[in-house]
Amino acid sequence: MMDGNGRWAAQRSLPRTAGHKAAEAAVIDVIEAARAAGIQWLSLFAFSTENWRRPGVEVEFLMRLVQRTIRKHAMALHARGIRCRFLGALDRIPPSLARDIADLVTLTRANTGMTLTVAFDHGGRGDIVTAARSLIRNRVPPEEVTEESFAGHLPHPDTPDVDLVIRTSGEQRISNFMLWQVAYAEWMFPQVLWPDFRAAHLWECLHAYRRRERRFGGVQVRTATGKG
Ligand code: IPE
Ligand code: IPE
Ligand code: MG
Repeated sequence: MMDGNGRWAAQRSLPRTAGHKAAEAAVIDVIEAARAAGIQWLSLFAFSTENWRRPGVEVEFLMRLVQRTIRKHAMALHARGIRCRFLGALDRIPPSLARDIADLVTLTRANTGMTLTVAFDHGGRGDIVTAARSLIRNRVPPEEVTEESFAGHLPHPDTPDVDLVIRTSGEQRISNFMLWQVAYAEWMFPQVLWPDFRAAHLWECLHAYRRRERRFGGVQVRTATGKG
């Protein structure tokens, strides 16, 4: 969750948009670092369904910035074997941006490297409603609605459950991010503001993640030596 762009700009007496602009370098660095670390699925929360509440100029700036970033980096992402996807409605955004997104998705569709999901105009509750509608539309009988079948009706149903969520800037909230998929995720809240987030911060988080004990409601099975 790429958070803290506005505060990064405010610290420098710059407009909030300058913080968004500075975020591009962090995005590129983190994508490369995640790929190098062997991560198969990376999701970036870029714009939430609630972010439409922001001033029109900021929203327009974000739309243009995302479009410029896609155009600038599409070929490099493709060359690195990254499969790009977008999670979000995409029918409320400017049509030319929607076209560029569709082109990037098509270009990288067959890539077998890391899958990069950009959550854009995304809301976790909205995705759950989408799944419920899909079940009803497909006349799935109530007794066949299970956690597994329900998940199969979410957008991008092949997306695995989230293992680790990193939200920068110290804010400790879900803010409607992939609600279904984060059910058992580990969370980290580094203080660093997103425009300053770099590969080294990601490595730190991955290192800390490896030391976490994930129990999924069960108990840790210990060996005879008691070391676990
Ligand atoms: C994250 O930074 C970018 C988006 C939500 C689009 P913010 O713009 O939320 O920055 P802060 O939280 O105001 O510092
Ligand atoms: C969440 O950040 C959305 C993104 C990171 C894109 P916000 O800054 O919009 O969330 P709130 O308003 O602090 O919950
Ligand atoms: Mg924020």
